[in-house]
Amino acid sequence: MSEFVYQADLVPYTRAELVEKVAANLSTSRFEHCLRVEQTAIELARQNGADVERAAIAGLVHDYAKQLPDETFIAAIQANHFDPDLLNYGNAIWHGVLVRISLNVI
Ligand SMILES: [Fe+2]
Repeated sequence: MSEFVYQADLVPYTRAELVEKVAANLSTSRFEHCLRVEQTAIELARQNGADVERAAIAGLVHDYAKQLPDETFIAAIQANHFDPDLLNYGNAIWHGVLVRISLNVI
């Protein structure tokens, strides 16, 4: 699956490049979880007639920002002028928001 090439308008990386970025940002156990979620997302997309490529990318990157420190999230929320109400939440919400701007994905 590492030779998989995503559509350019979805993400500016090949799957191999994206896997490398996710692996570099996460613990081994969290990275392996992301690979399992990617496979489950692909299976579910196929079963339900959804876009397999989008599902695969979402599954692979969904926890990309999960292990960043709170200070990084707070700075990103402020720098990107996100709703300041986000500051009332924590990593459980923040990590999903920051995946998109961290990786420039869909
Ligand atoms: Fe997860």
